[in-house]
Amino acid sequence: MIEINNLTYQYQVDAAKVLDNVSLSFKSGDWVSIIGHNGSGKSTLVKIMMGILEDYEGEILINGNKLTKENIANYREKFAIVFQNPDNQFVGATVEDDVAFGLENQGVAREEMVEKTEAALTAVNMLSYRRHAPARLSGGQKQRVAIAGALAMAPDVLILDEATSMLDPEGRKDILNILEDIHRERQTTLIYITHDLSEIEKSDYAVIMKDGEVLNRGSIEHIFSDTDTLIKSRLVLPYQMQISRALLKGEYVTHGELVEKL
Ligand SMILES: Nc1ncnc2c1ncn2[C@@H]1O[C@H](COP(=O)(O)OP(=O)(O)O)[C@@H](O)[C@H]1O
Ligand SMILES: [Mg+2]
Repeated sequence: MIEINNLTYQYQVDAAKVLDNVSLSFKSGDWVSIIGHNGSGKSTLVKIMMGILEDYEGEILINGNKLTKENIANYREKFAIVFQNPDNQFVGATVEDDVAFGLENQGVAREEMVEKTEAALTAVNMLSYRRHAPARLSGGQKQRVAIAGALAMAPDVLILDEATSMLDPEGRKDILNILEDIHRERQTTLIYITHDLSEIEKSDYAVIMKDGEVLNRGSIEHIFSDTDTLIKSRLVLPYQMQISRALLKGEYVTHGELVEKL
């Protein structure tokens, strides 16, 4: 559904290429993880996909149609994004106002707005906080509300740009579990950006980036079985993989399989 061909981008004409000939494609409904160190070009890539940055080389096709300056507005409403810092994305005085904001802007009728807001808050287990002020929630709760705001718009593609990086391990796990439910129940395409390899196990497809280039892509099994590339990417190997490398000659196993083998 989304096909990126030979995408090259630089912020200034004489500056270094931040994306260098990136080609990728993934299917509608997939959970896609994009992994890479700081500065590898992940945010730039999604900003281009969302039409926030223009004047790139290469092309982006959505369902076979090339994205252009003229048609980007039609696609933009099919994409929703949640950013890293939970504090920078609230506009409503209460949780439910905040989640309803995008729908209100679209002129959705009151009854439908309430319904969609409740459904989105239920999906992230935050309905009981509907009348709370977003500013007073924990980091994890704020990100769940931000996800609800995105979900209320029923996007085809939900992008999370390091949305868990400021959360504690419990908060991260909560978000990943919620995403798993959303992915299963709504068939939303997820683009999950992270620098943490331990967060990609649930995804269908993963892309490793480094310095504006794609180092590897494919299934999780493929990504984790190519240890040389993982080491080259300078990402921290997940704990279970470090154990597996030490005890199982590097064979890729899931957390559950590792527990069983041990
Ligand atoms: N607005 C900008 N102007 C100039 N350079 C930028 C800008 N935003 C990002 N960069 C540079 O582009 C590179 C890729 O950044 P980014 O896409 O944010 O990477 P990531 O999200 O993987 O950390 C980095 O070297 C960064 O310094
Ligand atoms: Mg980034």
